[in-house]
Amino acid sequence: MKGVVLAGGLGTRLRPLTSVTNKHLLPVYNQPMIYYPIQTLVNAGITDIMVVTGGNSAGDFLRLLGNGKAFGLKHLNYAYQEGEGGIAEALSLVEHFAADGPVCVVLGDNIIEGNILSAVNAYRAQGRGAKIILKKVPDPQRFGVPRLDGRRVVRIDEKPAKPQSEYAVIGIYMYDAEVYEIIRSLEPSARGELEITDVNNAYIAREAMTWEEIEGWWTDAGTFESLLRASNLVAETGANKMYFEAQR
Ligand code: G1P
Repeated sequence: MKGVVLAGGLGTRLRPLTSVTNKHLLPVYNQPMIYYPIQTLVNAGITDIMVVTGGNSAGDFLRLLGNGKAFGLKHLNYAYQEGEGGIAEALSLVEHFAADGPVCVVLGDNIIEGNILSAVNAYRAQGRGAKIILKKVPDPQRFGVPRLDGRRVVRIDEKPAKPQSEYAVIGIYMYDAEVYEIIRSLEPSARGELEITDVNNAYIAREAMTWEEIEGWWTDAGTFESLLRASNLVAETGANKMYFEAQR
């Protein structure tokens, strides 16, 4: 399975911190934000990774990450997103890199305490379709929110005023190679972007979507509140730990 870290966008919710640099280069406690999603993939055994960036300071990713030595990698792939077409548009840029098999996509501002090994292994066994990862949160209206019927996910609502569950769809997704055809069929949302939630709803409509719940804390880091929360969580407990699996 190949890995993708989406690290583009203008980070407008973090201005002026993002006026001259990319959100994913900002510090989260003692590391640049982008380190955490890359480590998430590497800890799941995914070492063939593409970083998609764009907007401000795209060249700084190469200077910071190089060939991925900090993560024990020999090579990293890069793609450049022109404009601000949204998460699903950014994902369409990796088609030439990952068209022949499954891909695990991590949003560059998503940080986890533990690891995604069990979800990745379950997806490998599933063999086709897609998998999302859920976490119970106190403020689901800030995120994609699933409607669940037992083990089945029936629909995902993007930032709903009245959330239909206590879960957020976190920014870690697994897709088969049909994802590119799905993205080509999407229309831009009200905010003018190709939404990852529309990709996920297309898999649900095909009855090809499964989900796992992640252990340990999860946070995004795209607002002042969540960036501070992310730094505090990392400082207090550390991120990207492997021990959840070892305990089983
Ligand atoms: C995006 C997705 C949302 C998801 C969230 C996770 O939202 O659209 O469904 O729950 O990432 O971080 P954004 O942070 O781009 O508003």
